[in-house]
Amino acid sequence: MHVAVTGAAGRVGVWVVAELRAAGHAVLALDRRDSPDVDGGVRQVDLADPEATRLALRGADAVVHLAAVPGPVDPPWSTFDPNVTTTYHVLEAARAEGIGRVAMASSIWAYGYNPPAEDRLPPRLPLAEDMIVPTTNCYGLSKRLLEALGREYAAAQGLQVVCMRYPWVGPPGRLRARGSFGDDGGIWGRAEAWSYVDARDVASACRLAVERDGLGFLVCNIGAADTKSTLPSAELVAAHRPDAALLRELRGHEALYSIERARQHLGYEPRHTWRDE
Ligand SMILES: NC(=O)c1ccc[n+]([C@@H]2O[C@H](COP(=O)([O-])OP(=O)(O)OC[C@H]3O[C@@H](n4cnc5c(N)ncnc54)[C@H](O)[C@@H]3O)[C@@H](O)[C@H]2O)c1
Repeated sequence: MHVAVTGAAGRVGVWVVAELRAAGHAVLALDRRDSPDVDGGVRQVDLADPEATRLALRGADAVVHLAAVPGPVDPPWSTFDPNVTTTYHVLEAARAEGIGRVAMASSIWAYGYNPPAEDRLPPRLPLAEDMIVPTTNCYGLSKRLLEALGREYAAAQGLQVVCMRYPWVGPPGRLRARGSFGDDGGIWGRAEAWSYVDARDVASACRLAVERDGLGFLVCNIGAADTKSTLPSAELVAAHRPDAALLRELRGHEALYSIERARQHLGYEPRHTWRDE
């Protein structure tokens, strides 16, 4: 397939480009900046420009849309327009150019458990995709709107749209060095339920989301199989949110954001854990 990747020069994008190429796909790497980490270079395009976006995506069979302001920033509103507008332009270009499959980066911030407003473990665990709570966090809202736009384009135009909610995406081989792994992690550990994922596992999810057929509109968590904590997950919950309702028995260090939907629909299986580093 010809697969366009937006945000190809970013921390996640370089791994997605490499994964798709290793699987034999012809990849068009798009970003508004170049990167020495993308073989063959990056075609520079600003996705804020609708016509440039449409022309850049012409000829692609699928698009992986990663370009964004990738987290909450100051001032908060500065994530809104860049993230929502570029997503609209990508979906509209997919419609206009007859690109049938779109995979997009959402975030666990779409759930609404956003510190500092919410700094506890969620009340029901493990978290499944429909367990969102109201939020006014601008970055989280920008990802909810990405998902809402995707739903509309899937329903109205028959596009396959897969929105993947990632937790913190860590650099392969340097997870321990770059992330805060351990049992507490302060409000971030609790609010994000000790979640993380290796960039190579995100890349495999992106590949599966464009290779698989018949997915329609899908929102799914993409994460590591385990938590950042050394405590077994049941003990972690007992220590930090003893009143939480457990929706099923927690096994070992299993992740508190459920990846069952991604396993079932994408065939996703994370292969990397910080415990092996
Ligand atoms: N890194 C994480 O921990 C994490 C966690 C959850 C979700 N995500 C999501 O994953 C995606 C990728 O994140 P990342 O960490 O690689 O971010 P990044 O900042 O490293 O890369 C994003 C890339 O998008 C490009 N970009 C932004 N606006 C653009 C525009 N208008 N036109 C063209 N290019 C543009 C940037 O130049 C950058 O290279 C984002 O959508 C982010 O919200 C990331």
